[in-house]
Amino acid sequence: MNRQVEAFVAYLQHSFKARSEYTIHSPFVYNFYHNILQNEEPFHQYRFLHKVRRELNTRAQYIKRKDMGSRAKEFICDQRFVRVKDIAKRSSVSAKKGELLFRIAQAYQPAHVLELGTSLGISAMYFSQAVPESKIITIEACLDSVNVARSNFDHYGMKNITLIPGTFEEKLAFALNQIHPVDMVFFDGNHKKEPTLRYFEQCLQHIHPGSVFIFDDIHWSSDMGKAWDAIRRHPLVKVTIDLYYLGIVFFKEELSKENFRFRF
Ligand SMILES: C[S@@+](CC[C@H](N)C(=O)[O-])C[C@H]1O[C@@H](n2cnc3c(N)ncnc32)[C@H](O)[C@@H]1O
Repeated sequence: MNRQVEAFVAYLQHSFKARSEYTIHSPFVYNFYHNILQNEEPFHQYRFLHKVRRELNTRAQYIKRKDMGSRAKEFICDQRFVRVKDIAKRSSVSAKKGELLFRIAQAYQPAHVLELGTSLGISAMYFSQAVPESKIITIEACLDSVNVARSNFDHYGMKNITLIPGTFEEKLAFALNQIHPVDMVFFDGNHKKEPTLRYFEQCLQHIHPGSVFIFDDIHWSSDMGKAWDAIRRHPLVKVTIDLYYLGIVFFKEELSKENFRFRF
């Protein structure tokens, strides 16, 4: 089966098995469902973030793209020189996903956020706006993307974001030591099973019971689906929430181990 067919089958299975609010018995998960997932409040920060996204979505500037992850093949015209607007549209979180990241961060108020995969910096800006007092560290190997993201952070005065250029393999340990213990991690680069599980294990060394991990595109391929299965079965993991496009992991000891599937 090719990747798109696998993803479509996983989507049908997800929709079929997704729960409604009436089957949620955990108050913690009920709170997540009602106050975070279903929250339709139009936060004023969304307007600003839309403006930033619009600017990147129309920028015709070419940059030299060194995509380290599994999606390099998606850039069909030129593997090396890519327009900023094409990266913004294809690799960055959507507005819907970004707004959910915003609400998750705003609800749990992490002091330290770590992001694996900055790209142009769009998702980092959602975190920055949600928790302006937090310290956000984001890692990116593609140096031209680093330059675009950095100039955005400077231009928009996002002083709580520290961008570390380099690969996760080189820089993750250093980043984790800077923000130990880590409150929130967004895994959004190198969407393959082995590296995803490796980064997960590395981050696990720095958690506390209130830490939250968010994985992007957990059903992007069967390989990522297997990584997600291994993550949710991990003995330290308690509640997992599968939104198909994102997987969210909680470690609170008082929670019973359970996986919830919701439509998003
Ligand atoms: C999907 S994009 C991130 C999008 C970004 N989080 C956003 O929504 O605005 C993934 C990024 O991870 C980077 N990446 C993938 N594997 C990496 C690795 N091993 N080390 C460092 N960066 C990596 C890619 O270069 C790419 O820019």
